[in-house]
Amino acid sequence: MVKTVSERAPRIEVKFTDDHRRVEHALAELEGAWNRCDSAHARRLLLQFGRDVRQHMRAEDDILFATFEAKTGLVGAGPTAALRREHVQIAQRLEDLRADLRVAPEESEFAKHLISLRALLADHWSREEKVVFPSCDQLFEDYQKVAAIRAIERSKPPR
Ligand SMILES: [Fe+2]
Repeated sequence: MVKTVSERAPRIEVKFTDDHRRVEHALAELEGAWNRCDSAHARRLLLQFGRDVRQHMRAEDDILFATFEAKTGLVGAGPTAALRREHVQIAQRLEDLRADLRVAPEESEFAKHLISLRALLADHWSREEKVVFPSCDQLFEDYQKVAAIRAIERSKPPR
């Protein structure tokens, strides 16, 4: 039976989508530093951006997707299996960017890898926001929503 999402229940879709926008903002700052040829600042921003993305993905893999898979029985198949594989690709692209910053800017593929990462994230986030987050809001008990939201809140760096 499909549950209706109560007005007062915590909303995974809202909290996880907000965190995508936060990480997206960090990506725009990184792109800005690179485009201004400020490679020292780009290096610092890449470190922070990489941490933000990895912690966001860990909250999804360990809590959100794990709960979705336990509720649906879709383990190793279905939407979260594809999204988990993309998390590995995203982590690899972050490693490519770190390696790019170790070579001279004129020989670096940083800009190309950054464009590729942005496209990968846009597609990945779109499917999470349109399919998985609303499904989690429908399927999860309130205590499971609270646990997932706590995980994404904990993933944010202290401000
Ligand atoms: Fe994700």
